[in-house]
Amino acid sequence: MSIVAVLGMGAMGSPMAAALLKAGHEVKVWNRSPGKTAPLVEMGAEAADTPRAAVKEADFAICMVRDDDASRDVWLNPDTGALAGLSKNSLAVESSTITVAWARELAKRFSQNGITFLDAPVAGSRPQAKAGQLIYFVGGEADAVAKAEPVLKAMGNAVHHAGPSGSGAAVKLAVNALFSVQVATVSELIGLMQRCGLDETKVMDIVSSTPVCSPAAKAAAGGILARNFAPMFPVELVEKDLGYVFDTAKLNGASVPMAETARDVFTEAIKRGHGDENITAVSHLYL
Ligand SMILES: NC(=O)c1ccc[n+]([C@@H]2O[C@H](COP(=O)([O-])OP(=O)(O)OC[C@H]3O[C@@H](n4cnc5c(N)ncnc54)[C@H](OP(=O)(O)O)[C@@H]3O)[C@@H](O)[C@H]2O)c1
Repeated sequence: MSIVAVLGMGAMGSPMAAALLKAGHEVKVWNRSPGKTAPLVEMGAEAADTPRAAVKEADFAICMVRDDDASRDVWLNPDTGALAGLSKNSLAVESSTITVAWARELAKRFSQNGITFLDAPVAGSRPQAKAGQLIYFVGGEADAVAKAEPVLKAMGNAVHHAGPSGSGAAVKLAVNALFSVQVATVSELIGLMQRCGLDETKVMDIVSSTPVCSPAAKAAAGGILARNFAPMFPVELVEKDLGYVFDTAKLNGASVPMAETARDVFTEAIKRGHGDENITAVSHLYL
């Protein structure tokens, strides 16, 4: 068993740390707002005051925070950043959903310091994190992926090595773009059916039974029809990720009009006060 530091005790980082404890690892936790480490300490984790203190003796350091800026601060803050506290034989894992450019920049910084680094964001939301059933998309060297796999498998049931550094981040952004475009489309179609005076539940049952409907679209339709908007993957994080798709496309000379349109839709949902609700709350624009 290993010493694992988990940096970020948000909705995803907390159950990930709990899963590591359950698997028998020694777990150190840190969060910007310190109160959030308390439940993990009760489960047996040790809380640290800074990311650097948390990783001091760690074999693995896993970061799970909001975005590029948060990731930059956790790893590289001149006073508290984790990178300067890691030993040379440790392995750093960035699991936050970040841009491809930032994942590559981080890989460069770790390499300059002689520390192995993987970008390893996840698919799956709060229930999958609780159940240890996340799906990992990993960028980095194959031997590093093999070394990290037993630790990642405590939190997930699939580890996909996507390619060199930045590949994990790229796959994650692709998955989220595909997901959010579908949820936005299902939302507007349910609104259309309503306006046509049809029974939207019956219509969506039929649509869901056809080969064109994905499992994700079917699940989203179920949540919308049940008016269940309890946050799992909140609208504001969806909008952040679509912004990252746009930024990545711009930087690499690609065109992503569907993702751009979806981003506008999620931005509008935030403006109307639905940022903290689940992704399916984008349907408020149409229902
Ligand atoms: N929710 C999902 O379904 C889901 C699924 C897959 C991937 N993700 C990705 O996983 C990451 C975490 O998501 P989450 O749902 O756990 O989000 P969350 O519940 O909003 O937690 C965000 C975490 O980031 C920390 N943070 C934010 N800004 C920071 C900063 N400037 N410096 C240091 N820490 C900062 C927060 O600390 P405080 O507590 O101090 O605010 C908190 O620990 C995101 O990149 C998200 O896109 C989410």
